[in-house]
Amino acid sequence: MFDLEQKKGGKENNFDGLIQKALSASADHIESSIKESSTNELSADGIERLFTNCIQAANTMHEQYNAGEFHDFWDPAGYDYNTNHQIKRHANNVGIGLGRISVSRGDSARKTAVRIMSGMLHDSGKWSYESIVCSGEKLSASDYKTMQEHPMEGYFMTHKGIRESVRLGVLSAEEATEIETDVLNHQQRYDGSGYPMKTKGENIPFSSLEMGVVDSIDAMSTFRGHNMPKTMDQVLSDLNRNVMVQFSPLAVANVLESYPKDKSTGIRDVVSNSTETGITAAEVNLMIYSLAASIAKRRGVPAHIH
Ligand SMILES: [Fe+2]
Ligand SMILES: [Fe+2]
Repeated sequence: MFDLEQKKGGKENNFDGLIQKALSASADHIESSIKESSTNELSADGIERLFTNCIQAANTMHEQYNAGEFHDFWDPAGYDYNTNHQIKRHANNVGIGLGRISVSRGDSARKTAVRIMSGMLHDSGKWSYESIVCSGEKLSASDYKTMQEHPMEGYFMTHKGIRESVRLGVLSAEEATEIETDVLNHQQRYDGSGYPMKTKGENIPFSSLEMGVVDSIDAMSTFRGHNMPKTMDQVLSDLNRNVMVQFSPLAVANVLESYPKDKSTGIRDVVSNSTETGITAAEVNLMIYSLAASIAKRRGVPAHIH
């Protein structure tokens, strides 16, 4: 049904642009599907079109990885914070972050596409609270409580379409369950203080724990309403401080390992390009490795987890 090995036309090598194009189209598509639907639900047709875009993005990521060109292309700014741009940009970034983990651990292109799809859909529930999310104001206590409904809301917005797409043969039952599980569980915390179910530690599905790390890195490092983005050294120290509290140590290690080691790309680029931090790419490399090593030590395993 879907050609995972489909080749791009010509000698296109603008990998980043291709992935961004596929995912930006996906994000626009999620928005219009939800808004045009009288029931506020993504249709099976919407899920199918979204999955097609995620497969394109996954194929491009694999080609990029095989060509030794595994760039990071998160959109780090999201300055358009008082519009819904930030919801869409965040969906893209989390999809990309999960895709990177998948590719770097050798998952198939299809599996990668499912992970990207999970990332694209994880905060679907926020479309129901767009006015709160995009107010640009600090959330009141009651708004904060309302926002905690978003995983459940997202689950209901996507459930029917996802299940119908299984019936139509677009997704397998296992793939559908994985996506739904992550939409529902991405706000759980390792210490059991998350929501909606307050599940704890390894009882939280591992894919959702990885999503929680990618989700938080993007949330911390970009503009969100009144929040100024944290510098990457702050992000890394927050990650470190919250291992075993908010984050699974293995999930943090996997995310850090998915950044290329031999190139000044990705998270390191964000920092080295920042005039505010004055931190060099080499210093960030060092921070990442010492953090990964300390996490690995805490877990009692060698620093290199592959
Ligand atoms: Fe969320
Ligand atoms: Fe999120």
